[in-house]
Amino acid sequence: MVQPISVFKGLEGVYVTESALSLIDSENGVLYYAGYDVKELVERSSFEEVVFLMLHQRLPTSSEFTEFLKLLRRSQELEPIHIETIRKYAGVTDILSLLAMLIVLEGRGKIGGNSNDFNAAVNAVAKMGSFFSTIIRVRYGGDYIPPRRDLSFPENLLYMMNGEVPSREHADVLDDLLILHAEHGIPASTFASLVAASTLSDLYSSIAAGILALKGPLHGGASEASYAQALSIGSVEKVPEWVQLTLSEKKKIMGFGHRVYKIYDPRATIVKNIIARFMGSMNSEVKKVYEITRALEEYGEKYLASRGIYPNVDLWTPILYRMIGLPADSFTALFAVSRTAGWVAHILEYWRENKLIRPLHLYVGERPRKYIPLELRTGS
Ligand code: CMC
Repeated sequence: MVQPISVFKGLEGVYVTESALSLIDSENGVLYYAGYDVKELVERSSFEEVVFLMLHQRLPTSSEFTEFLKLLRRSQELEPIHIETIRKYAGVTDILSLLAMLIVLEGRGKIGGNSNDFNAAVNAVAKMGSFFSTIIRVRYGGDYIPPRRDLSFPENLLYMMNGEVPSREHADVLDDLLILHAEHGIPASTFASLVAASTLSDLYSSIAAGILALKGPLHGGASEASYAQALSIGSVEKVPEWVQLTLSEKKKIMGFGHRVYKIYDPRATIVKNIIARFMGSMNSEVKKVYEITRALEEYGEKYLASRGIYPNVDLWTPILYRMIGLPADSFTALFAVSRTAGWVAHILEYWRENKLIRPLHLYVGERPRKYIPLELRTGS
């Protein structure tokens, strides 16, 4: 008997590879990077150390870390071709598209398939940070500021963007956000980068595939959408009615729901705890978004929690992004900078036993039929 063919829309529930990079414990609401609870990494580690962890699946020794930082910080410097491209396009395209363009440029002449290409992986993370800062700086009328080797990755990111060494608080918040978004299994963007890499496309082009899959509001674009949503609601008083109307029209609340977590996203809890430390220093715009978000969480959960739809990390991150001075159209691009750590680690890991990714579709169209020349066709 012929077995019926199953189609897994959205690849829901399908395992596409093995990986030692992260474990999402969706029952207990814990996210692990190579065995370390991300909460502990946020509290005790740094994004730079997490990049090493992703690439080697272990924490570095002190001497290894010193060498690693030298490579990372050296690689943050941009070349004239990057700077000229940013000057040309920063004002005419969105930040994420320009990031993709620049990383493709970085891959010129390179070939893929080398699972030991750690230097390229580190270079990609470093360049993404500098691209991000310089695009924003140039968009707002400034020009390239070279990175400083005595500054950490998050410090450099803000320094190259603003021209001033950031406060310890802001650099720490950014470091936490970078750690939190560095890796998360195989969401659409990581899958897109693996699909490209599985053809043995080069590392940088594979990252570009990931960047572009991050753009939509169902995935990486959710934080910008969630921020815009809060602003458009306008006030705490309007939240209950807005939630009811949105759900009655079968629309989605941005910053709610997740394919893997059917409970509260543990990253959202971490972000909320960080926000709590800064309640006194929020400006009026951020404060307002915070109050609206709090009400949204309360009313949204009231209607959605019974269906396993809870707030996700992107409901809350916009508050921190704005608090450290990031423009409202840069959140997804920052996510891309951070997730580059996960993408490159997944790609190198996949290349160890590369297999072209090539799923099937179940054909439901017409059976073979006869071609009728245009002049003989009668219509139906
Ligand atoms: N608001 C209202 N209803 C929702 C929501 C939401 N945020 N999310 C899911 N639903 C409903 C959806 O309407 C559908 O209802 P029905 O069965 O009546 O048609 C049902 O839940 C299943 O939704 P789905 O979109 O098919 O489920 P999924 O597992 O593919 O959803 C998701 C995952 C993230 C695409 C979805 O929850 C969503 O669109 N959320 C809003 C966008 C968002 O916040 N994305 C960020 C995700 S976390 C960060 C990241 O990974 O990038």
